Amino acid sequence: MHKKLFIPGPSEVRPEMLQVLATPQIGHRSQDYKDLHAALIPKLKKLLYTEQEVFIFTCSSTGVMEAAIRNFCGKKVLSCVNGAFAERWYKMTVANNKPSKKLEVEWGNPIKPELIESELKTGDYDCMTVVMNESSTGVRSPIEQIAEVMKQYPNVSFCVDAVSCMAGDKIEADKLGIDIVLAGLQKCFALPAGLTVAMISNRAMAKAATIPNRGYYLDFLETKKYNDKAQTPATPAIPHIFALNAQMDRILNQEGLENRWARHIRMAEMVRKWAVGAGFTLFPEKGYESRTLTCINNTKGIPVADLNKELGKRGAVISNGYGDLKEKTFRIAHMGDLTEAEIRELLGWIGEIIPTLPAQK
Ligand SMILES: Cc1ncc(COP(=O)(O)O)c(C=O)c1O
Repeated sequence: MHKKLFIPGPSEVRPEMLQVLATPQIGHRSQDYKDLHAALIPKLKKLLYTEQEVFIFTCSSTGVMEAAIRNFCGKKVLSCVNGAFAERWYKMTVANNKPSKKLEVEWGNPIKPELIESELKTGDYDCMTVVMNESSTGVRSPIEQIAEVMKQYPNVSFCVDAVSCMAGDKIEADKLGIDIVLAGLQKCFALPAGLTVAMISNRAMAKAATIPNRGYYLDFLETKKYNDKAQTPATPAIPHIFALNAQMDRILNQEGLENRWARHIRMAEMVRKWAVGAGFTLFPEKGYESRTLTCINNTKGIPVADLNKELGKRGAVISNGYGDLKEKTFRIAHMGDLTEAEIRELLGWIGEIIPTLPAQK
């Protein structure tokens, strides 16, 4: 039996989208492909409220995170770290031999704007990386307030990992002055992994032209050259592009962006309310909870693996904590195309199962 995915990616994919993935192939240099690519990009621009560049990359988000470092860092990166994925971005920076300072706060806390400002004031940096929605901790950093600080430092590239919130949480890229914001398809886009969407500012593109050793596969200038012709430099994941184009039609025309943002907020509120009502507490600092996944302190010491085993019999799966938080927390994702009815059903099941589990505390 398929278990419906309430984990922070990959997320549940609609059967009709799985069908779109099976569309017969076309050549990536054909007019049919160009028509598909040219139809898709403006839809992604609407999603991100941008009139600047939007590219699609055939790789997972990690590839584009690394590429952001290679394309934009000429001096030093301020690597904001408040969880596992932010830590990875820092490690990629080091692995690419770029000078970096790790600005670290405890897991569960957001990256606050004043912290960034105190570092940027030194004038040491030309790049800043931040994870908007830390999937390991369920924390949403206040990107809108961070943007106000970043506007005072236009020479510092503002790099945002929105992997687990793009297409589930509103990101007004141009208004916020973001230089790159990226996400793979397997979270809030509700499609399989394999493609990454990134908005890149004109300012950042101009800067990339001054940076040596940008690499080959994910050189943003080369990507733009092809994107201008509605193509990609190398063979793209065409099934995913068919599906993303169809999914963007659904998102924009059937659901509507504002409705999609509101649904995610309602689902998040349902899960938070349930957790507190059931006697748990939330892991993130209050006021900084993610809108697409909830990280819950396992204050009752429930065996999450046993809970999942029981959920599995009902056709669902949630996630345990990440890394060191494995048994200390558990995570329920409410992202993509999941509905409030599905979340309600899941919470009902969890409520039913918990009293039957062996008490650990
Ligand atoms: C916030 C965040 N950033 C980056 C990644 C890395 O994405 P991928 O493994 O698809 O490259 C993930 C994956 O879960 C994530 O949740």
